[in-house]
Amino acid sequence: MIETKEFLQRRTRLLSQLDKNAVAVIPAAVELTRSRDTEFPFRQDSDFYYLTGFNEPDAVLVLCKDRDEQLSSHLFCRNKDKVAEIWHGRRVGFEQAKAQYLFDHSYPLSELDEQLQSLVNTKRVLYYGQGTYGDFDNKIWSLLSTLRGAPKKGYRAPEIIKDIRPLVHEMRLFKSEAEIALMRKAAKISCEAHKRAMRFAKAGATEYQLEAELHHHYAMNGARHPAYGTIVGSGNNANILHYTENGDELKAGDLVLIDSGCELQGYAADITRTFPVSGRFSEAQKQVYELVLKAQQAAFEHVKPGGTLVKANQAAMKVMTQGLIQLGILAGDLDTLMENQACKAFYMHGLGHWLGLDVHDVGEYKLDEADRPFEPGMVLTIEPGLYFDEDAEVPEKFKGIGIRIEDDLLVTESGFENLTVDAPKTIADIEALMQH
Ligand code: GLY
Ligand code: MN
Ligand code: MN
Repeated sequence: MIETKEFLQRRTRLLSQLDKNAVAVIPAAVELTRSRDTEFPFRQDSDFYYLTGFNEPDAVLVLCKDRDEQLSSHLFCRNKDKVAEIWHGRRVGFEQAKAQYLFDHSYPLSELDEQLQSLVNTKRVLYYGQGTYGDFDNKIWSLLSTLRGAPKKGYRAPEIIKDIRPLVHEMRLFKSEAEIALMRKAAKISCEAHKRAMRFAKAGATEYQLEAELHHHYAMNGARHPAYGTIVGSGNNANILHYTENGDELKAGDLVLIDSGCELQGYAADITRTFPVSGRFSEAQKQVYELVLKAQQAAFEHVKPGGTLVKANQAAMKVMTQGLIQLGILAGDLDTLMENQACKAFYMHGLGHWLGLDVHDVGEYKLDEADRPFEPGMVLTIEPGLYFDEDAEVPEKFKGIGIRIEDDLLVTESGFENLTVDAPKTIADIEALMQH
């Protein structure tokens, strides 16, 4: 649970970074139709949520920093409406929103055009993130045209338009104690869900049943939605990186790759585990599995202040390249194979990404062209994998094996905390769990 005052502190911190005589406009997400009269579950815009904690569509946050550095926050949102609320659910209402969410001012959405014009008029800088919500972009361009078109009325449009997102995203990259507590919880629920799916797996069960096991556990623990489309890929399906059909039957002797994490109060977990359908790894599966695990461990060594994702990836790739030579999959000199990134034929994705309100969370990966060093408070995934499609040019015994191992790490002063340590990962731990 993130307290209301933390949202207020975030707004204040963002305001402190704005230029003088500036206004920032940040709209909420829009509701999307799934099919006639039915909407997709509403998911708030992550930046808007980060700054407000307000979870309704049809809302806009405006932050102002006047010429004399007076700061103010303004929320526009839906009116209370008895009939609409009987049909579609409760609304906070603009009268309540001000006190409940600690805004300086709140208004009904019907006043947006008029008030926005007066809040933007004569400001020198407009902070806005264009390109996400087309209808709102049009509103902003039309407002700017109005302000540019009538100087005699005292209108003046901002001279400078800046993207607000880099400032918000830099803040979001560093997690607060309250955010870390939520992410620990999301990770723990997701670990338990993976264990549940492992216990359920057997030949004849289906990928969608494993998905159902995971989603049941999420929902039963207050996380009603997965953070992204759950991947349950058995056999050769594991070699489709974003496989989400989840429709096949599990076969004895195959592995199954599950990439799934819940979203808890906005915060994502992102875990991949790969395990044998029948509870025991074959020799060939063990060889590849141990290699991916060793690569992940090598990457972990770099997850500490000063380390970088690029260095971690190089370490993982070195281990994988050496291993692929030993397995007879790659041939040649290690340095040359590393230079040519030869292992990329079987490891097609990146090593990891920031994690937070979005599963592929925001934040720069480079600072002034240089690889960004890790700092305490960042959360990221480390997820090496090796994929041997059934058509790949590898020894027969490796064909159809696809393995990824993914954990969520919080960077600490001395290294990292593995938030997803509870999901079994060694061959011994996986086999032991699956015997029960
Ligand atoms: N589940 C998406 C990813 O691992 O990045
Ligand atoms: Mn994942
Ligand atoms: Mn991931």
